[in-house]
Amino acid sequence: MQIQLFQFNAELYSLSELTGIELKLVEESFQCFNKSYAPYSQFLVSAVALLEDGQLISAGNQENASYGATICAERVLLSTISAQFTHQNIAAICVNYLPPNQPENSKTISPCGICRQALLEQETKQKKEISLFFTGPNKQVIKLSSVKHLLPYYFGSEYLH
Ligand code: THU
Repeated sequence: MQIQLFQFNAELYSLSELTGIELKLVEESFQCFNKSYAPYSQFLVSAVALLEDGQLISAGNQENASYGATICAERVLLSTISAQFTHQNIAAICVNYLPPNQPENSKTISPCGICRQALLEQETKQKKEISLFFTGPNKQVIKLSSVKHLLPYYFGSEYLH
């Protein structure tokens, strides 16, 4: 029997430790909850991308009366970018949320499984890693250097070749 060890660094920041474009990216995620349509869960999620040319693009989760038709903020964001900014790579993405009762001590968000897979596909498509930032009402920021860290044993394009 052998043990495989998976390791990655998660960097934890407070807002005051972030500077420049990283701070702008994270601040934007607190400003764009109005893009979320969440009448059923009241759980607002925002996702903001920093494109390679410096533009910030934001999106929110889009819920549906047929609950399964709901689209998470991360996948709304990726679709928007593929439609409107087709040849732009994504340098970084920040995901944030506002739960119904705004508890200040709620945890930092972590994307769902389908969104992890969708984010991984974007990394594959652009052949460049995406820095990920997660935050929430507690304003703690977690930074990862690649989507791959979220999905050990991921199913990727290499299986299909
Ligand atoms: N949601 C997201 O937008 N992103 C995630 O990564 C997790 C969940 C949304 C979907 C639904 O509108 C609400 O959060 C509650 O699940």
